[in-house]
Amino acid sequence: MINGGVPLKGTVKVSGAKNSALPLLFATLLADGQSTITNVPELRDIRTAVQLLAELGAEVNRQDDSCDIDASQIRGIEAPYELVKTMRASVLVLGPLLARYGRARVSLPGGCAIGARPIDLHLKGLEALGARIHLDHGYVEATAERLIGAKISFDLPTVGGTENLLMAAALAKGETVLENAALEPEIVQLAAALNSMGAKIEGAGTAIIHIQGVDTLQPLNCRVIPDRIEAGTFMIAAAITGGDVVVQNSVRSDLEALIGKLLEAGVGVNEVDQGVHIVAPDKIQPVNIRTSVFPGFPTDMQAQFMALMTRAEGTSRISETVFENRFMHVCELQRMGADIQIDGHSAIIRGVHQLTGAPVMATDLRASASLVLAGLAADNTTEISRIYHLDRGYEKIEEKLAALGARIRREQE
Ligand code: UD1
Repeated sequence: MINGGVPLKGTVKVSGAKNSALPLLFATLLADGQSTITNVPELRDIRTAVQLLAELGAEVNRQDDSCDIDASQIRGIEAPYELVKTMRASVLVLGPLLARYGRARVSLPGGCAIGARPIDLHLKGLEALGARIHLDHGYVEATAERLIGAKISFDLPTVGGTENLLMAAALAKGETVLENAALEPEIVQLAAALNSMGAKIEGAGTAIIHIQGVDTLQPLNCRVIPDRIEAGTFMIAAAITGGDVVVQNSVRSDLEALIGKLLEAGVGVNEVDQGVHIVAPDKIQPVNIRTSVFPGFPTDMQAQFMALMTRAEGTSRISETVFENRFMHVCELQRMGADIQIDGHSAIIRGVHQLTGAPVMATDLRASASLVLAGLAADNTTEISRIYHLDRGYEKIEEKLAALGARIRREQE
């Protein structure tokens, strides 16, 4: 429940990145002994990952933001449908299990709210490393005696595919070259983490990554990078409410595309010690955006930026190029008085003077964030239901926003 209209003020601290923590958690399957990962956010997706690791036989202990994982006694090799359907990133166990144990059985994720999202490129890559793959009752079954390095050229840069292949190739025999690899900061962190375990990976963060396979890896000790999407969401929260907020723990170089667009919209963005200071403008300028892979404008910020544009003084166009069906928030924003028209893969947004509170429904993680942002700026009360989507990716969001002055509370449905 949000009573909007309060300009947010103060300092908010960004948590560890969900999308970095997930592959790091699964990377611990690659070694015997106890790994420790810190700055792990308390999120539903992280609990799902921990549950999956535990089902595979890993010993997992969480204390505050620290997570100890001992994968010495793995007994299972299966990621069941019940877990994969709640979190697609579960498919990231495929590479590590196959590389380390020669077998993996992982449910196919199927469709999801934002599009088809196949994993064909993950599978093609693993086959190129010598894995035998077949589909059985909705499950991918993969086997290999020992993976063998190969040259893999991705048809398109896939974040999860690059991560799965990095983890698999780290223990393969010989050299693997990944071409057209994803460039996201989470890939860079995973490669650095694998190298700290003894892997030999060069070029992460560029389109071509070289991996010299090694026979064994050591346990992992690392700290998860800050969540750039959470940081970006708080930046927009400040901008949309006419606020003045320091977003602490945000890494500017991970957020250049978003910051460029915020500046175009007239938002004040200043780098401060360990963070970014956001000052809302009197008038929000309309800005066109086109989502793309890193370092382009992130698709995971598209819905939130659209919420901001509903308040702009003029017309903006937002084009989604990464996922085919990522405008689920549009109908809900319209219910709050936004003027948005869909034109194929683009949305045309005519700024309105005022959004009005309404009961709305969250449909996926980032769509829910855009509804929260709109609710913070709207008059009266906005009631957002199905907020379990929000809990997948935002740690204590209502507490963090309330600390900035927002009138927001969680109620039992
Ligand atoms: C990751 C992020 C997600 C983000 C997305 C794009 C995690 C846990 N999730 O998802 O938050 O929105 O990157 O930045 O890190 N594709 C294929 N075949 C494949 C794999 C992907 O066609 O085998 C397509 C997808 O359908 C999509 C595009 O490639 O259209 C990009 O997907 P990908 O980069 O793989 O996203 P995820 O890793 O699933």
